Amino acid sequence: KIHIALFGNPIEHSLSPLIHKNFSKEIKINYNYNSFLCTKSNFFVIVKNFFQNGGFGCNITVPFKKKSFQISNKNTKYVKISNSVNVLKKSSNNNIIGYNTDGIGLIYDLNRLKYITENSFILILGSGGAVYSIVYHLLKKKCCIFILNRTISKSCILVNKFKKFGKIFVFDKNLYTKKFDIIINATSCGLYNFSPKFPKNLIFPNTKCYDISYSKNKKLTPFLSTCRDLGSRKYSDGLGMLVAQAAYSCYIWFNILPNIKKNINLLKSII
Ligand code: ATR
Repeated sequence: KIHIALFGNPIEHSLSPLIHKNFSKEIKINYNYNSFLCTKSNFFVIVKNFFQNGGFGCNITVPFKKKSFQISNKNTKYVKISNSVNVLKKSSNNNIIGYNTDGIGLIYDLNRLKYITENSFILILGSGGAVYSIVYHLLKKKCCIFILNRTISKSCILVNKFKKFGKIFVFDKNLYTKKFDIIINATSCGLYNFSPKFPKNLIFPNTKCYDISYSKNKKLTPFLSTCRDLGSRKYSDGLGMLVAQAAYSCYIWFNILPNIKKNINLLKSII
């Protein structure tokens, strides 16, 4: 049997094992997908042991995506840019290769929802690993990005790193003149069940609000519920992105891409 794992913290509520169970049936490849709760101090050892004991590949989630960059001894160009890894695979010559499928997962979902076009004007909340994973693909789509983060110095570092790839700026409410097409919450606030603070006057009925985190039981995430209360009529959580990044992970391991739309609908009907 092929062993795939998920490493992160927290991990117990993750939907990834369920998503991969569905993929495994669909693509007819029998693989295990087990999740492992790690701590900062045992993360490297656990992942190393996994690969030494025959592990085939894994997903890495919060808060270890940046650390994983130090495990892989070969990385894709995009991982080198973002310094963030969410997929590892052991190659035939025993290299551990690092990939990141969050960016393409997000673009897939924003396209599916018809939220994004070339040149979309986007505000991103946050400046952590999650944002590093997604901005490159948005810039490649020629979007214009503004970053708003609680700690401004972190937004400045991020903007300086990515400005050579396109239009990306630190958000300044005093210079704000144009309506955003999309507002993306990429902070970790959802994990703690609250919405990040942002200026209320940025939300209009046609502002598309997207939360890269997701909720179960058909409940809105705190960020989306805030946006709805402020008048947005178009909003979505990151369930589609989750399924899409998982499908692209599957493609990396097995060279087969599961049907993403079908799996989003399937997951929505189960949870
Ligand atoms: P991730 O890998 O999920 O991005 P991270 O690197 O720890 O995790 O980043 C968390 C992001 O959520 C950061 O942008 C953080 O803001 P700071 O840079 O100011 O720490 C943001 N965040 C976390 N808690 C927050 C809060 N209570 N209010 C606003 N932003 C918060």
